[in-house]
Amino acid sequence: MVTTDTIRGMKGNEKIACLTAYDYPTAVILDRAGIDVILVGDSAANVVGGERTTLPISMEEMLYHTRVVSRAVANALVIADMPFLSYQTTEHDAVFNAGRFLKLGACGVKLEGGTPILSTIERLIALGIPVMGHLGLTPQSVHQFGGYKLQGSSEKDAKRMIEEAVSLQNAGIFALVLEKIPSRLARTITERLTIPTIGIGAGAYCDGQILVLHDILGMFDDFKPKFVKRYAEIGRDIMNAVLRYKDEVKQGTFPDLEHSFE
Ligand code: KIV
Repeated sequence: MVTTDTIRGMKGNEKIACLTAYDYPTAVILDRAGIDVILVGDSAANVVGGERTTLPISMEEMLYHTRVVSRAVANALVIADMPFLSYQTTEHDAVFNAGRFLKLGACGVKLEGGTPILSTIERLIALGIPVMGHLGLTPQSVHQFGGYKLQGSSEKDAKRMIEEAVSLQNAGIFALVLEKIPSRLARTITERLTIPTIGIGAGAYCDGQILVLHDILGMFDDFKPKFVKRYAEIGRDIMNAVLRYKDEVKQGTFPDLEHSFE
């Protein structure tokens, strides 16, 4: 079974392959394929909930996704994303909410941000709750950023991000997600840290990679960010299957004798 120690030990030895999952059947496939970390991302808000941002998803909804994914997984490390306002309010809220994810089978939680939540992260780790950090384009701050823009491109922002990455490492996180930042900055952070970095839109120098499952499967036509590579065209395949089914039902060619009982 993959543990947070396994992930730490992979730095410099083996690239870490991570994907998101929100439901049982896809989590089974990811686990059987040998994905190291399965993130129950709050991107569920966009991907399965059709929301424009990740802000609306609730604790209860994230708990449901975490429960069904955890049930499916035998080997991978399951990390639950803490949704907006589940950890920013008080340390008590953060501990209580993180603990609820662990009770359902997650092995750790991911929190977005650096300096403002450092003491919260320290508290979670002191209580035995592993934490994955997340810097760069942290989607819960989309309104602060004014859109899903590249982060850390000015010298000042890059310097601050490097400092925050080191502070998060000192606070005890086991890995750090770097989202939508220049690859040279991701390289600097990766070289500076002793814990693994996991990139998404952060270039080739991170210790691992994470993407949203539905993006690599080609589920949506209208969302094709530069950093996503599509390994399938599942949206088109589903549409073709549904159209064929509809036609056969309308024409009366399905159900046929082969799919009926005597
Ligand atoms: O919610 C999410 O999907 C994420 C990404 C890092 C993949 O946080």
